[in-house]
Amino acid sequence: MIKQETINEIINACRIEEVVGDFVRLHKRGVNYIGLCPFHNEKTPSFTVSPTRGICKCFGCGVAGDSIGFIMKHEHYSYVEALRYLAKKYNIEIQETEQTAENIQKLGERDALLSLTAFASEYFSHLLFHSDEGKSIGLSYFKERGFIEDTIQKFQLGYALKQRDNFLNHALKKGFTLENLEKSGLIIATQKENGIARFDRFSERIIFPIHNFSGKVIGFGGRILSNVDKKSAKYINSPESPIYHKSDVLYGIFQAKNAIRKADKCYLVEGYTDVLSLYQAGIENVIASSGTSLTEGQIKQINKLTNNITVLYDGDSAGIEAAIRAVGMLLKEDLNIRIIILPETEDPDSFARKNDLQQIRQYFSEQEKDFIQFKIDILLKDKSNDPIKKAEFVNQIAADIASIPDIIKVTLFVKQCSDLLDIPETVLLRRVNKIRLETYKENKIEPKKNIGETQVVQPLPIQIDQKELSALQIEEVEKKLLFLLVNYGEKTINTQNKDEKDEPIFMRVDQFIFNNLDNDGLQFETFTYQKFLDIYAEIAEKDTVEIKDAFYLYPDEDIKNLYINLVDIKPTPSPLWESDKVRSFITTIDNSKNKLYEEIIRTLQMLRLVTLRNMKTKKNQQLKTCKNEQETKALLSSITEITKIITQIEKQLGVDYR
Ligand code: CTP
Ligand code: MN
Repeated sequence: MIKQETINEIINACRIEEVVGDFVRLHKRGVNYIGLCPFHNEKTPSFTVSPTRGICKCFGCGVAGDSIGFIMKHEHYSYVEALRYLAKKYNIEIQETEQTAENIQKLGERDALLSLTAFASEYFSHLLFHSDEGKSIGLSYFKERGFIEDTIQKFQLGYALKQRDNFLNHALKKGFTLENLEKSGLIIATQKENGIARFDRFSERIIFPIHNFSGKVIGFGGRILSNVDKKSAKYINSPESPIYHKSDVLYGIFQAKNAIRKADKCYLVEGYTDVLSLYQAGIENVIASSGTSLTEGQIKQINKLTNNITVLYDGDSAGIEAAIRAVGMLLKEDLNIRIIILPETEDPDSFARKNDLQQIRQYFSEQEKDFIQFKIDILLKDKSNDPIKKAEFVNQIAADIASIPDIIKVTLFVKQCSDLLDIPETVLLRRVNKIRLETYKENKIEPKKNIGETQVVQPLPIQIDQKELSALQIEEVEKKLLFLLVNYGEKTINTQNKDEKDEPIFMRVDQFIFNNLDNDGLQFETFTYQKFLDIYAEIAEKDTVEIKDAFYLYPDEDIKNLYINLVDIKPTPSPLWESDKVRSFITTIDNSKNKLYEEIIRTLQMLRLVTLRNMKTKKNQQLKTCKNEQETKALLSSITEITKIITQIEKQLGVDYR
């Protein structure tokens, strides 16, 4: 267990813009920073980081958190893992309370599997360098292919022995469970007549550990040795597991990420050995899609580091086809894509070994093409004179251009393409626009990506119409009130009624809200919200701590997260879309104490309204089952009374009531 003092120290050291900035490219916008949300797909940034409040929040998907919460979500870390990560980032020495066997037992499934894969990786690497078989078969294979020890270490390459239960026995001896060994895919279990047979998935293969973005080993690829039976697959990979999702994996991302960020560019290749050879040659900003066509998950990870991606594929026809597929995917994601086609008989691995860094760089810069040039070259190589082929090709390229979200890029590509193909710009543009319109119609209703988070609370519109009034949900209203409490609780307002001519009555907002709730005996129905309210009251009473700090350090994660979720950091609009709507949104409450007061009154009224409605429903139900005449009378009269008040409040809320 990490000591509380260390936790406090870590929390104090964290600067949210630095923590997030390691994963998301942030741009300063007013007092906040904005960037593309790493938790959902978006083209325009709505992920806002507030240095003053120490939190980040996405206005698109609703994810919110402080530094620890962000790291937990982004890296899929546990609370403790996130703390360790941040401690390392800020050079804070971790003081621990004593570790017990019980604590170790309690490691979550993910942690348990990650510790197993880390262990396996170390073991395979150990075998490569220290076992006779590893040295004579594995290491000599790598050496033969020209990989130097530095590269082997950097990528933690390894070797798995021939004996098919070697790893199994070793891992069991070290205390790993059969259950986790199977879950990780390192061990294969099959039902045989005389029971279950278990053996190593990887044997007599060289091992490529696959790291995630933050450097944890999550899975393995194992390559067969050249002299072995050619019937087995060249590569075997880890199966899907709670920690390994093939479609999200980018081989080499951990080793390459800093170089990618620095160069603001990334090279994408197909295979493990392509990455190794280019890296060894001095091109470090390189990653592999591992033989599959690119997925959205992979693109999202690249997008965190750079917008510029150069696809590097083999010079054969399969390579070109793969390049075309990848380009299609990347265009849609608004990345700047370039393509390099290698000489026909080469793949990146062989090419990197045959040339030195300068030659590689030169070839790359000479051959790098944007996708239009690339496609046109293919066309010209084909039969450029065949009009049907050409028409088909123009349609195809128009579809590619149409899939680019950025309208400025679309215009530029249309121009370039019309020049190169000698087609009037207007013709091409018309074609592109038609496709854009069609796809727009098809996808008009974009499904909301739900990542299991509560939505960010937005202030309700000032005018409430009857429809909205009748649909009011008690939970929403309660949350709205908490929103006001959290964001404006420490402000003072004049609580004097408009028509009274006396001295103004100034009061803190939280005090005012609590007074109102107490006077009417109002309680929240949502359990967590009421709990939050109680905790807030307790903290505010103490008066010695800042409310914000008390919540940030609050031991109950649910309460802390609710607080963070409620904290309002306004999306700072770009000057480009500073429409009236946005401007009025921003100036609503903040700049007007009257507006704030109105908003609080309105919300309290709404709370009364929903509470009364609930009460009425209950009484109506009682009425149905009530046999006693006296009681029926009483019920009826109180229902009438309640209905009267409800109508009154509804009227008030529907119109300007001040
Ligand atoms: N691959 C795979 N399973 C296979 C074949 C390939 O997962 N049966 C993936 C591997 O990630 C591999 C990539 O596809 O690295 C490219 O395949 P290939 O070009 O056949 O292998 P190379 O990486 O070029 O390996 P080598 O140079 O050692 O032949
Ligand atoms: Mn190869």
